[in-house]
Amino acid sequence: MKPMNFRGRAVLVTGASSGLGREMARQLATRHGAHLILVARRGDRLEELKRELEADPAVRVHPIVADLSKLEEVDRVIDEVTSRHELYAAILNAGITHFGAHDKLEWRDFQRMLDLNVTGVVRMATQLLGPLEAREGGLMLVSSLTGIVTVPYQTAYSATKAFLIHYGWGLSHELAGKNLSITTYAPGGVDTEMTIGENFGSLRRWLMPASQAAREGVEALRRRKPLHIPGVTYRWGTALVGMLPRGLTTRIVAAQYRRALEKAGAL
Ligand SMILES: NC(=O)c1ccc[n+]([C@@H]2O[C@H](COP(=O)([O-])OP(=O)(O)OC[C@H]3O[C@@H](n4cnc5c(N)ncnc54)[C@H](OP(=O)(O)O)[C@@H]3O)[C@@H](O)[C@H]2O)c1
Repeated sequence: MKPMNFRGRAVLVTGASSGLGREMARQLATRHGAHLILVARRGDRLEELKRELEADPAVRVHPIVADLSKLEEVDRVIDEVTSRHELYAAILNAGITHFGAHDKLEWRDFQRMLDLNVTGVVRMATQLLGPLEAREGGLMLVSSLTGIVTVPYQTAYSATKAFLIHYGWGLSHELAGKNLSITTYAPGGVDTEMTIGENFGSLRRWLMPASQAAREGVEALRRRKPLHIPGVTYRWGTALVGMLPRGLTTRIVAAQYRRALEKAGAL
């Protein structure tokens, strides 16, 4: 399959009201000339982005306000997208975390995280594969390095992202030879609203600018890479971690995160 060309094509980005999603939307419009369908709960943010991007008359933006932790809203978005657009690419990026001890995660919040990070993504992916295949399109799941390397104190989040690593990787093999590509994207720490809280304190020095993470994400999708980790340091670090005993690496990660939480008085 040839690399993707987003110019004049419809690209869906979920979680486009901030952070990585907003940056990917910006780059898809400004560098690649894509038409965008942007989804998030904060409609005012989506409208602001629409105004910014449509300053270029060649770009069209269709904002959809939806809570993707609710299955009926996920289905509404799928209907709206497939009935109004010839979808060429979809970036399933919306996600939330819990950074803190496992017993400080309320059951309701855990359920919402599971619904958004896992259930909604699987629902969208399965419903969008057909339309994407019809146009030699591409699907990108935004997972995380925490899905490859276990991160204690983000334990449940890390597990939701591990699901996406396996799901995306498995799909890309099940669908090999079909007329579409599946990319799983696994960034390490990125400087966004997700990592802005006090708890991340000393860990913030590891964060990558959202613009860089977005650029590498869009490029991985464009080149139809099955799995991509942005940043040379993170890529080599992950390879090294893979060679060491899992118990050792998880102890080191746990110690770093515990220290950050203790400093923030959150343990
Ligand atoms: N930041 C990192 O270090 C990092 C690292 C690896 C992977 N990631 C992944 O990257 C993705 C984007 O995260 P980010 O860092 O850019 O965080 P962010 O700035 O907090 O953005 C999260 C996006 O998800 C949307 N969202 C949250 N809950 C939603 C819901 N119920 N329904 C619809 N949209 C919802 C938010 O929009 P509204 O609040 O307006 O709904 C926002 O646009 C996530 O999947 C995250 O797991 C992040």
